[in-house]
Amino acid sequence: MNRLSTSLGSYPLSSPLIAASGTLGSLVEFADVVDFSVYGAATAKSVSPEPWQGNAVPRLAHTHSGILNAIGIQNPGIESWIASYAEGLRNLPTEVWGSVVAHGIDGFHVVASSMADAGVAAIEINLSCPNLAGAPFALEPSISADVVAAVRDATDLPIGAKLSSDAQPISAVAQAVSDAGADWVIVSNTVMGAGIDPVTRRPLLSGLIGGYSGAPIRPIAIRSVLEISRDLPDLAIVGCGGVSKAEHVIEFLLAGASAVAIGSAHFKSPRVAGRISRDLTRFLKKHHIVSISELIGAYERW
Ligand SMILES: Cc1cc2nc3c(=O)[nH]c(=O)nc-3n(C[C@H](O)[C@H](O)[C@H](O)COP(=O)(O)O)c2cc1C
Repeated sequence: MNRLSTSLGSYPLSSPLIAASGTLGSLVEFADVVDFSVYGAATAKSVSPEPWQGNAVPRLAHTHSGILNAIGIQNPGIESWIASYAEGLRNLPTEVWGSVVAHGIDGFHVVASSMADAGVAAIEINLSCPNLAGAPFALEPSISADVVAAVRDATDLPIGAKLSSDAQPISAVAQAVSDAGADWVIVSNTVMGAGIDPVTRRPLLSGLIGGYSGAPIRPIAIRSVLEISRDLPDLAIVGCGGVSKAEHVIEFLLAGASAVAIGSAHFKSPRVAGRISRDLTRFLKKHHIVSISELIGAYERW
């Protein structure tokens, strides 16, 4: 039996490990480097209706504690994405989730519909990008719900909505996207951050503010998962933020996640999921845990 199998509601996963969007590129270019069979699913980088050029450099900065990025979701647009990657993605030995992004509701509908036709297994909705009013969709329950409803209208595939820990309270957004048809939530994307070089006095990112990721955001993401699993116990959660070890995966599961996405840790080691997967199995055997799903939401209260 596979001790690592889990599920997001009725959607089965052979492993709780998910590759987080944008951290292994389009996935296809890592096919010779990474053993994708260790992931329950791998999420491709977000794709928009038209090509996006991304932001001016510097747009990625390694701080002493985590990564700041403002790539601006550079991508070739859905038409070219399908022509370049759809076939390669179908040949990866894991479930591939497409990630949709747009500045307006119609754009999400268009991309989701084309991605579904291209053969992805599920659609992830990146709600962290600014809408036409300039604020991230993910901060507003009703706007996030409108996006999810548009994607629900475009496809019968399972849908995951990727939330932001910057939203307060995050459970209100989770409730809204669940009501609008999301099958699970990914908790969460980067949190907003910034930095300034004390010598040059220049911001670390050309656009001043960007997304902060890596180890320091794990407690923030764990807090978000705890809040959502407390308020919406029936909603399936993919935990995400600062995962680089098997122990981190277990922490997210205990908090209430059913699966866990690995992001920035891929930059240090694209093969990190293989090690985490082996260590998870070792942990389960050592602690006589038959199935990893026993751990979901199973933290002990003081
Ligand atoms: C360079 C970079 C690019 C990213 N691109 C995307 C993206 O295209 N779509 C998306 O939904 N999230 C994107 N993310 C966010 C990650 O998927 C993940 O949610 C976030 O980094 C938190 O996880 P981590 O701390 O493990 O990195 C990106 C993150 C980084 C660092």
